[in-house]
Formats: sequence, structure tokens, C-alpha cells
Amino acid sequence: MQTVRVGLLGLGQIGSGVYSILTRKVRELEAQCGVRFEIKKVAVKNPGKKRSVKLPRKLLTANAFAVVRDPEVDVVVELIGGVREARLYVKEALRRGKHVVTANKALLAEYGDEIFELACQRKCWVQFEASVGGGIPVIKALREGLVANRIDSIHSIINGTSNYILTRMSENQMDFKEALAQAQAKGYAEADPRLDIEGIDAQHKLAILLRFAFGGRVKFDQIDCEGISRIRSEDIAFAEEFGYRIKLLAIAKRSDDGIEARVQPTLLPKEHILASVNGSFNAVLLRGDEVGDVLLYGRGAGSRPTASAVVSDLVDIAKRGSGRFADAALMMRAVRSSLKIKSTSSILSRYYLRFHVTDRPGVLSQISKILGDHAISISDCVQKIRSEGSVVPLIVLTHAAHESDVRDAIRLIDRLKSIRGKSQVIRIESGAA
Ligand SMILES: NC(=O)c1ccc[n+]([C@@H]2O[C@H](COP(=O)([O-])OP(=O)(O)OC[C@H]3O[C@@H](n4cnc5c(N)ncnc54)[C@H](OP(=O)(O)O)[C@@H]3O)[C@@H](O)[C@H]2O)c1
Repeated sequence: MQTVRVGLLGLGQIGSGVYSILTRKVRELEAQCGVRFEIKKVAVKNPGKKRSVKLPRKLLTANAFAVVRDPEVDVVVELIGGVREARLYVKEALRRGKHVVTANKALLAEYGDEIFELACQRKCWVQFEASVGGGIPVIKALREGLVANRIDSIHSIINGTSNYILTRMSENQMDFKEALAQAQAKGYAEADPRLDIEGIDAQHKLAILLRFAFGGRVKFDQIDCEGISRIRSEDIAFAEEFGYRIKLLAIAKRSDDGIEARVQPTLLPKEHILASVNGSFNAVLLRGDEVGDVLLYGRGAGSRPTASAVVSDLVDIAKRGSGRFADAALMMRAVRSSLKIKSTSSILSRYYLRFHVTDRPGVLSQISKILGDHAISISDCVQKIRSEGSVVPLIVLTHAAHESDVRDAIRLIDRLKSIRGKSQVIRIESGAA
């Protein structure tokens, strides 16, 4: 029986889940994988804190370096989160020839180049299944199941908090603030939810997916990113009227002149397979040149689903064994060249536009004139009528237009006297599935 000695950094939501699986499922893991995991040390910030898992006090330390430098540790599992300290510990572990498992998307999105390069130099594994899609085995699918494919596109819902909020807004007619408060009460959103609702968490995850789906370095801040904090309940209702749902999508598409990559609220036709991914669930729709569409769906966060992915990474490392580095090509490919990310201004797409206008004759013609001057043609339009002079929403759906033209037109429209507040612009995705 092979024994793998594990050093755990962090015993919070995910660390506790990992500790629990490794100690509860000893026999199952031995029988199924022929591996015995031995937890040698666990680093936490505050060893005196009450824990949801019971463990011998002597395993705990407040010194993470004592774990990564311990010669009796074969694999370091980094689950402390944050970037600065996690980066130090992960690099120190790799320098000492230890394999690393991490769920830390921010760390890999920001410092993936140096971490994967160091891993290649030291012939160590860095496994990170839990960093994208929580319990969904999307990295494994890219690494193994879809290896015969060139991946042509990714359409994904990879931030459960945003998806939960949008679902509540849609199904329960809540406004954004109410839905966010409910997400916080249920533990789906942090007290400071900015990373989630501003799209940055999904941007981090898309950067990781891009690296391994398309094979190359990518700077995560080259990925255009917009969150859901400007989505109003009226947008959800109007989208519904036109036959669409609004989802925060992380999208990447390959084309001859580069890769289109963005995180944005998006109108999806109701019959699109991702339109029915609701609540805190995640889904990743991959299109391969051989296999066609593949959909991976499941829990994108939470202690047990995320720990399930971390344990699968540990088993992978155990099976590959130290010394063997057969799969290195994948890691090398992910750092050798840079991916060319296209500017979104050149991308052609349909748009949903929502204006708040003073209800007076001639407003629509002013708006359509500006749109026409920018080569944007209207496919649908709805104006809710109240009494003359009141402020009403005016919704316009466009045919395919360049993003730069749409932004320029909106800038001019927002200066019109009859326009109240900032107008809403949401891309419409009609593509895959
Ligand atoms: N939560 C999820 O659903 C989820 C899903 C996917 C990925 N992830 C990722 O998983 C990682 C862990 O998330 P989490 O939700 O488990 O976080 P968490 O609940 O806040 O736990 C963090 C743990 O790290 C310990 N810690 C923090 N700084 C430390 C330091 N300098 N030295 C030693 N220990 C330290 C804390 O110690 P104390 O307990 O003593 O405070 C705590 O046990 C993050 O990178 C996160 O992005 C989380």
C-alpha cells in the first residue's frame, strides 16, 4: 500500500472538508485507489479556535513554513486563500520538491506563470481542480477526457454567488440588494461580496480555464470583466418578455485572429442549456473539435464538493508517483507561449439596451438616429407608456453590432436631455447549444 504524507495549510471550510474525507474514507480510498493518506501536519492561523472537525492537537501549528519545510511531508495542500502568503508557501513547497494541491483561483490567476514554471523546473505537480467549478471535474476533463480535442469555446457559469442572486431576482422578483442579502444570509456570499458580484472571481477562474483549454500564458486582467451589480429587476423582467434569462457568463472563443475572453452579464435564450442552471450551481459548456459540446454541471463551492475535488487531486498525485513527470507537456504548454486575447471592441454581438426616457414625442427617433449613425440596427423595441412627461423604460434589442460602436452611441444617447440616468447595455449570446 502506497502512503502519501500530506501537509495541510488551512482548516477552514475547505480544509475541514478535506480533513474529514481523508479521515472518514480511509478504507474506501485504500480499496479504490490503493493509497493511504497520512496527515502529518495542519497549519492554521489560530490553533486555539474551535473546529468543526476533531483532530489531535499535536497536528496543529500556526507556522505554515513548518509544514512546507517538513521533510516528512510529500504533498502540500494549500487551502488558506489570499494571495501574498499562499504564494510564499506554495513556492517554498515546490522549491523543496513537494507536490502542491491548491483551490486558490486568485493565486493561480495572478501568479500562475511563476508557479507553473517553478513546478516544471522542480518536476513537481501543481494540481488545482477545486480552483474552478468547485466539485466539478473540469480540469480533469480538459487534461484527460478531452485530450483528443482542440477546444474551440467555453461558455460557463462559474460564480455560484452571482448565479444565486440572478436566480432569486428572476424567480422571486427580488431586487439586487434583497437577493444579495439573502445570498449572504445563506452563506453563499461573503460579507465583502465584491470579488463575486463584480465578476473578478469568475475572471480568475476563466484565466485558469483559458490557460489549460487553449494552452498558453494569459494575464487575467486582459479578460474583460463586468459583474452583476448594475443589473436591475426590470432588466430581468424585460429580458424574460423577450424570451431571455440573464446570466453572468465567463466566455472564451477561439478565432483565427485571437481569443475572445470575457466575463459579463449576458442575455441567453431561455432554451439555451445554460439558461436553466439555477441557484448556486455552476456549469461549464466546452466545445471540442472532435467531441462537439460537453456540459459539466454541479456544485461550484461549499465544503464537501470542493474537498471532493481536492482529494481527487491528491489521488492523482499519488497515482502518478514522485519522480514520474509524464504529463509535463500540459504544464509546459500552459507557460511556454502567450495567448493572444482579442480586444472586445472588435467583437460583433447583439445587444439589449435599456434607457430611462422622459416620455415625450420624438425620443425614440433621436435614439434610433444615433444608433443608425453608428451602424447599429434595431431588431426589437418596447416602450412602456405612462403619462406624457413621466420617466419610462425604453428597451431596444439590436442586430449584431461592434461593441465599440455600441459604447460610442450610448455615450451620445446618455447626453440627450430626455435620458435619465445611465443606460444599460447587456450582450445577447445566441451561440452554442
Ligand atoms: N469556500 C468555498 O466554497 C471555496 C470553493 C472553491 C475554492 N475555494 C478556495 O479554497 C481556499 C480556502 O477557502 P475556505 O473557504 O476554506 O477559507 P476559510 O474558511 O477562510 O479558511 C481559511 C483557513 O486558512 C487558515 N489560515 C489563514 N491564513 C493562514 C496563515 N497565514 N497560516 C496558516 N493558516 C492560515 C485559517 O485559520 P483559522 O481557522 O485559524 O482562522 C483557516 O483555517 C481559498 O483559496 C478559496 O478561494 C473555496
